[in-house]
Amino acid sequence: MSDTKYRVAIIGCGRMGQNYAEAYTTYPDTEIVAIADANAERREVLGTRFNVAALYPDVETLLANNVPDIAVVVTPTKYMKDAVLACTEAGVKGISTEKPIAARLEDADAMVEACTERGVVFAGGNLQRAMNEVQEAAARLHSGEFGDIRGASVHGFGGEISGGGCQHISILRLFTNAEVEEVIAWGSPTEALNAETDEGLIINGRFQLTNGLECSVFGTPTPCRGVDVWTGECLVRWDWNPPEIFKGYDPHGNRIRCEPNYSPYPWSEFNYLTGSIRSFLAAVNGEGQPWITGADLRQALEVAIAAKRSATRNSVPIKLPLEDRSLALYPRPYRWLGGDVTGRPQSIEEATG
Ligand SMILES: NC(=O)c1ccc[n+]([C@@H]2O[C@H](COP(=O)([O-])OP(=O)(O)OC[C@H]3O[C@@H](n4cnc5c(N)ncnc54)[C@H](O)[C@@H]3O)[C@@H](O)[C@H]2O)c1
Repeated sequence: MSDTKYRVAIIGCGRMGQNYAEAYTTYPDTEIVAIADANAERREVLGTRFNVAALYPDVETLLANNVPDIAVVVTPTKYMKDAVLACTEAGVKGISTEKPIAARLEDADAMVEACTERGVVFAGGNLQRAMNEVQEAAARLHSGEFGDIRGASVHGFGGEISGGGCQHISILRLFTNAEVEEVIAWGSPTEALNAETDEGLIINGRFQLTNGLECSVFGTPTPCRGVDVWTGECLVRWDWNPPEIFKGYDPHGNRIRCEPNYSPYPWSEFNYLTGSIRSFLAAVNGEGQPWITGADLRQALEVAIAAKRSATRNSVPIKLPLEDRSLALYPRPYRWLGGDVTGRPQSIEEATG
């Protein structure tokens, strides 16, 4: 770990933002120096809870008074682009967002490009791709330990194909070390297919990957809810926990589950938010890439948009990258606008911690 104590600002400090604030308060190399939150009453409570005096109603006022090293953007999705762009212009070294990163592809592009142009480390959020066990399973797959990858499948791709489906897409891309280059999809129910949001939409389909693999996509229930990748002898299964590893077959032809023996990880607090934050801070310190990046979230949005587009056009194959960057898929209103606006405000008692 570096000797630097990073100065951190939390921008948007509701339910999820407070999880980040807890983490950044705990780590020895970070200090929360400012919070921006639109809700005045909650803001005051958070100042006391996290011992932060510099409290602002919006990102612009925060940056005018206090440019942090690290900006942690946890506003509702609608406000992420403006916050990210303002932080890049102000000279912040590292920025993280939450999921989904945007509704419109060109907004996600603007964030990724602004960070790239200014050399800002751009991390994603609380995603299972950032679990140390997921990262280790991917590294072991890539090392050839399990043999050549022969197939992949995605399960549980429904309900929220952007808001939650970004978990699946970011792990599929990691495990296979490939991008989705074509999507063909079938969607239901009709009301969800005709809506502007991803809410309730179930997608079945097929992803063609850039390494030649064809990936079956199941939105309707199967016994799994995550991503399977297999070789001749082995199966790596991410199902919302540390990935299971199966090696070889018993005399009846069933796969044999083996102990993955994942390496110890020095951080254990805050579940997979920890891998997300620690890999982000390492990247700001010049060591590697965040385990989940803003660019990963952009790719996931793009795949979700392509899937819905294919499904609404009688399952036409859709090539990626999408040429029309004005295409959009909105998350459910809570994610887009936050609890205060959509009838689920966080109470002051809850914000007090
Ligand atoms: N990765 C995960 O597991 C996960 C889980 C929950 C939420 N999220 C995502 O996190 C984001 C926030 O969700 P939440 O549950 O914390 O919502 P929330 O409604 O509890 O909190 C949002 C906070 O942002 C503040 N806010 C709203 N607009 C703002 C603005 N323009 N500038 C500054 N502050 C602003 C609100 O006052 C509120 O305190 C959403 O994008 C959501 O999709 C991710």
